[in-house]
Amino acid sequence: MIYSSILDCIGRTPLVYLNRLFSERDKEVIARLEFLNPGGSVKDRPAKYIVEKGLKTGTIGLGSHLIESTSGNLGIALAMVCRVYGLTFTSVVDPKISKTNLKILKALGANIDMVEERDDQGGYLKTRIRRVHELMETIPNSVWIRQYANELNWKAHYIGADELIHKLDGPIDFLFAAVSTTGTIHGVGRRMKNQFPHLKIVAVDAVGSVIFGHPPKNRELPGIGATRVPELCCPEEIDEVIHISDYESAKGCRELVEKEGIFAGGSSGAVISAIQKKLPTLPNGSRVLTLLPDRGDRYLDLVYSDEWMMKFLEEVK
Ligand SMILES: Cc1ncc(COP(=O)(O)O)c(C=O)c1O
Repeated sequence: MIYSSILDCIGRTPLVYLNRLFSERDKEVIARLEFLNPGGSVKDRPAKYIVEKGLKTGTIGLGSHLIESTSGNLGIALAMVCRVYGLTFTSVVDPKISKTNLKILKALGANIDMVEERDDQGGYLKTRIRRVHELMETIPNSVWIRQYANELNWKAHYIGADELIHKLDGPIDFLFAAVSTTGTIHGVGRRMKNQFPHLKIVAVDAVGSVIFGHPPKNRELPGIGATRVPELCCPEEIDEVIHISDYESAKGCRELVEKEGIFAGGSSGAVISAIQKKLPTLPNGSRVLTLLPDRGDRYLDLVYSDEWMMKFLEEVK
């Protein structure tokens, strides 16, 4: 099969049993390797879907200038999609962006708009949103992607989950998914629940994230958690929330490498850590599905840095 563009290579990501890491008899943990998408993350799916849907319905045209407040995987995915369609993309970022992501965004031809001023909560979120509004007013044909509120975000994952139904050779009892916009958990969760109505959905959030009403706290791992409650979030559809600290996520990442040879990002470590906590309490015969959202390369200075890890050990002392 020869594809017509890199975008046709998005999706159809493999499923693997994590049976070296989770060797309990009578329980299975299956991981969907979303980091094998060409842009390196699960966010390739919504980026492609949102842009192609916009082009089809006319909300995005060939002269459109896409804007999003993102310093991570969605920005990288949008930059890739915009190259293919010849669209302009501006990523509104803040000084906390990792050096690696900044370089990747630039290499992919994204315009970088860096805010400098902190907001009244000491972070940059409100300043970034204010900047998006300013750009929307001044740039002709600008389109704001709005990942936290855009219904196409979860729908991309819903459609993408059809692949899972075809590949899984039987029902799944638990879905463990890391959350930020909640697009992935709701999209995959809704599709899987249609197929397997008894499915229990477990959200894996970062300690310090406010999505499920916990107080904000400093956290360093990108991708998981949020400093605002996403408009997309429907807590009534989630059966349980497990909060995982940055340190626990890093430990999960390192065990995933050690036992399975899988080099994945911070939120993958978080889901591993959450499953480790929960698996012993699940009934025999349980089948668990999880997603590993991105690769380890973007976290070399975080979870894969011994220096970064030492900080947590010093805190415990
Ligand atoms: C690495 C990583 N993990 C998990 C998520 C969470 O996905 P969602 O925003 O769909 O909740 C994201 C989203 O950006 C991510 O980049």
